[in-house]
Amino acid sequence: MTEDPYRLLASYITQGARVCVLTGAGISAESGVPTFRGGGGAPIWRNYWDPTKLSHRDLLYKDLKLVWDWFDYRREIIKQCEPNPCHILLADIERMLGFEGFTLVTQNVDGLHVLAGSQNLIEMHGNMWRAKGLRCTHHQPLTESPLQEPIPQCAVCGGPLRPNVVLFGENLRTRDWNAASSAAETATVVLVIGTQAEVYPASELPALGKANGAFLAVVNPEPTGLSRIADLVFEEKAVPFAQSLSKYLDLP
Ligand code: OAD
Repeated sequence: MTEDPYRLLASYITQGARVCVLTGAGISAESGVPTFRGGGGAPIWRNYWDPTKLSHRDLLYKDLKLVWDWFDYRREIIKQCEPNPCHILLADIERMLGFEGFTLVTQNVDGLHVLAGSQNLIEMHGNMWRAKGLRCTHHQPLTESPLQEPIPQCAVCGGPLRPNVVLFGENLRTRDWNAASSAAETATVVLVIGTQAEVYPASELPALGKANGAFLAVVNPEPTGLSRIADLVFEEKAVPFAQSLSKYLDLP
C-alpha cells in the first residue's frame, strides 16, 4: 500500500528536521494576488507586458515614474489581500519547529508572509511596502497607497525613492543569498510552493538542497521543471495542500 503523501511529508517535517521552504507567486494566488506567468488557472498581472523591461533596473533611470506607476498599481491590488491558510500554516510550522529549525525563502514582494507572522523569513526580491533612496542608502517603510506623489521622496536627503525590490538586471543582496543558500544546503526537507522556478538564482535552491541530501517536496497545480527531481509532488493548489498537511502536524 502506498503511504499517504501528506503523512510522509509531515513525518519528515517533524522528525528533528531543518526545513527550508521556497515560495513564489502561486502561494499568494488564492489570496487574490495575480501571478507573473499564470498556471493553475491563476490570473496574471495586467499590463505585465514584459517582465524584463517593466521590472528592469534600467527603467529606474529612464522612467522612474513608470516604475512607481507599476508598483502603485500592484500595491493597490495587494493591499486588499490577506494571508491565506498556506501562508498561515508556514508561520505555524515555524512556531512548532523554532526559529533555528525553519527558514522561509520567498520570491514574493507582496508582504503576505510578514502579515501571516513568519519571522525567519528571507524576502529575496525585497518588499513592495518598503522603499530606498535611488541615490542614497536610506531605507524607509512606504505603506501609503495610492501614493500621494508620483515619485516619493527620501525622508533624509529629499532625493527620489525607488521600490525596495530586486529588479531584473540587479543582484540579490549578498546576505540574503548566503542565508538562503545555506538554509537550502543544510536542510533535511526542502518544500517548494507555487513557483515556476524559472528565475535565477532562487530557482537553484531546490536542487542545491537535494544535492545535499534533502527530501524535496513540490506543491504546484502544474508540472514544473522541478517535478522531475522532486521526491514528492503535490499537484494541487497551495490552500488545499495546507489544509491536508495541517491534519498531520501537531501545530501550536
Ligand atoms: P510565476 O508567476 O512564474 O509562477 C507561478 C507559479 O505558481 C506557476 O508555476 C503556477 O502553476 C503556480 N500556481 C498558480 N496558482 C497556484 C496556487 N493556487 N497554488 C500553488 N501554485 C500555484 O511566479 P514565480 O515563480 O514566483 O521577480 O516568479 C518568480 C519571479 O519572477 C518573481 O519573483 C518576479 C517574476 O518576474 C521579480 O519581480 C524580480
